[in-house]
Amino acid sequence: MGEGKDIVRVGLVGAGFIARLHTLAYRSVSAFYGDAVPRVELVRIADIAPGAAEAAATRLGWQDSTTDWREVTQAEDIDLVDIATPNDAHAEIAIDAARHAKAILCEKPLAATVGAAREMASVIEEARVTNQVGFVFRKWPAVELAKKLIEDGRLGDLLSFRGHYFHDYALDPEMPISWRMQRERAGAGALGDIGSHILDLAHYLVGNIDRVMARTTTLITERPTPSGGRAEVDVDDAADLLLDFDGGATGSIHVNWASAGYKTEIGFDLAGTRGALRFRWQHSNELEFYSCEDPTDIQGFRPVIIGPEHPKADIFWPVPGLGIGYSDGFVLSVSEILSALKTGRHAQPDFAHGLRISEVIDAALHSAETGAWQFVSPSPVGGQA
Ligand SMILES: NC(=O)c1ccc[n+]([C@@H]2O[C@H](COP(=O)([O-])OP(=O)(O)OC[C@H]3O[C@@H](n4cnc5c(N)ncnc54)[C@H](O)[C@@H]3O)[C@@H](O)[C@H]2O)c1
Repeated sequence: MGEGKDIVRVGLVGAGFIARLHTLAYRSVSAFYGDAVPRVELVRIADIAPGAAEAAATRLGWQDSTTDWREVTQAEDIDLVDIATPNDAHAEIAIDAARHAKAILCEKPLAATVGAAREMASVIEEARVTNQVGFVFRKWPAVELAKKLIEDGRLGDLLSFRGHYFHDYALDPEMPISWRMQRERAGAGALGDIGSHILDLAHYLVGNIDRVMARTTTLITERPTPSGGRAEVDVDDAADLLLDFDGGATGSIHVNWASAGYKTEIGFDLAGTRGALRFRWQHSNELEFYSCEDPTDIQGFRPVIIGPEHPKADIFWPVPGLGIGYSDGFVLSVSEILSALKTGRHAQPDFAHGLRISEVIDAALHSAETGAWQFVSPSPVGGQA
């Protein structure tokens, strides 16, 4: 579907925070990739909030704006539908876009419920449209270097993964409640929002997650509403997970969006029989590598500074050590689906993988309720890397 496209006409649904990052990425992707990606036309942006799409169109440079997302999913002049709405709106929009033969880039987590994610993955498979879910951190060069070192055998057999994603943005109890803190709209709290990213890295680097044991905690149980009332918080602020991977490795993940001292800190420690890796977002242009093969008197983690010789970093600057930033991750992400539309290859991570992560989140929520280990139910369409 879409093979050989030289021009891709994009429609974006949702004009909030992440819409800005996506737009910047579309605007600059050909400056980095040249002819390897099709030329992008920013055709239409939609948002249900009155005036939001119009303001975003003017500021970000979209040709047209609308309050009706169907004018994106059903439009003749759109090839790629980019979904950047709250989680509960992803399914309806993606399913309509697939039924109108559009390629789809959908933000993470794939949906608010595992049932909606399953329906999305199966409609997309049936419609055979190019699809991708926005797990942007796996495209990060230091993470891609980790993947390469693992595949090259530099870590030996993988034994343990310890991952985290901490933030302090929900620490203030007077921060008004938003869709992210409502289970019906978000599906889960910190576990679904930031936890889905680190679960994706665990899956990408180590492999399929077989079972999970979880504890979830709501630290601030009530918050102000934007209209001046009070509302109960029915999602987790923090989640602690134990994981067993198919290949025999064990793992643990801690996520917390009310964690004093942390500003966007996603990271992992990964250890194998021959070496280990350490990654921290606060040092995102470095990957630390420990090799058991180093002479014992100088063994230790060495920071490898990311530069043009590393995977996915080569498209940026020819000078090592200059560093890239958060918005560059979105250039890497949109380049994936755009080059898939040009060459006809499969984009990754796809909806089937997004479903797999939703299944792990669902299993973790069940485990937190029952206090028992929960196997992650295999899905007929899920499971791709
Ligand atoms: N990949 C990442 O690193 C990353 C980072 C932030 C957010 N996200 C994801 O992006 C999505 C959006 O997050 P955000 O932070 O931009 O949220 P946001 O609240 O800033 O913006 C969402 C926008 O969607 C609009 N909207 C709501 N329902 C809609 C509908 N049915 N049709 C059209 N517009 C609708 C809202 O009016 C709002 O302007 C979420 O799924 C979130 O998890 C991903």
